[in-house]
Amino acid sequence: MALRTLLTEDRIQKRVAEIGAEIDRDYPDGNLYLICILKGACLFHADLARAIHRDAFFDFIGISSYGRGKTTSGQVQLTKDLDISIEDAHVLIVEDIVDSGVTLDYLTRLLKQRHPRSVEIAALLDKPERRLRPVAVRYVGFEIPDEFVVGYGLDYAERYRNLREVCVLEGEPDYN
Ligand code: IMP
Ligand code: MG
Repeated sequence: MALRTLLTEDRIQKRVAEIGAEIDRDYPDGNLYLICILKGACLFHADLARAIHRDAFFDFIGISSYGRGKTTSGQVQLTKDLDISIEDAHVLIVEDIVDSGVTLDYLTRLLKQRHPRSVEIAALLDKPERRLRPVAVRYVGFEIPDEFVVGYGLDYAERYRNLREVCVLEGEPDYN
């Protein structure tokens, strides 16, 4: 397998700063909760939080819909729930990538049942061609073609998360 850079560190950081500035403009008052979807969104969450210049709460939620392969199992499981109540709060779900939309469709429904003031989504990457469920993503970093990507939090079988750029993973996986 080979890695081909799709988004450089510089491009990612510039775009994250722009999204942070938009969020600053869009949320004038009320508590803002930045909900990180583990594990893929952890680096985007950390950088986006620092690009936002208003007070914000953090929480983390664990969802799994992927096995070790490259395609969704279609089944979403909650592996870790939030620690805090989101009642009356502005919730911003921070996700690495929207692919089929199954994960975010499930999660937005779940969180809306808890009576937040608002629920929006910020996703670093969007693969619109692959959508099976419609999801309204308020902040999108980059629309990308239908290729499997890793890095900047995204993994293949738990590898490559710590790359500073987003790369396309080319070739077939080796199972050795
Ligand atoms: P969805 O439920 O199909 O939208 O899948 C979303 C989740 O699948 C993301 O949170 C990622 O963890 C994972 N995913 C989708 N596409 C990719 C990719 O190209 N690389 C790595 N993970 C991906
Ligand atoms: Mg994920």
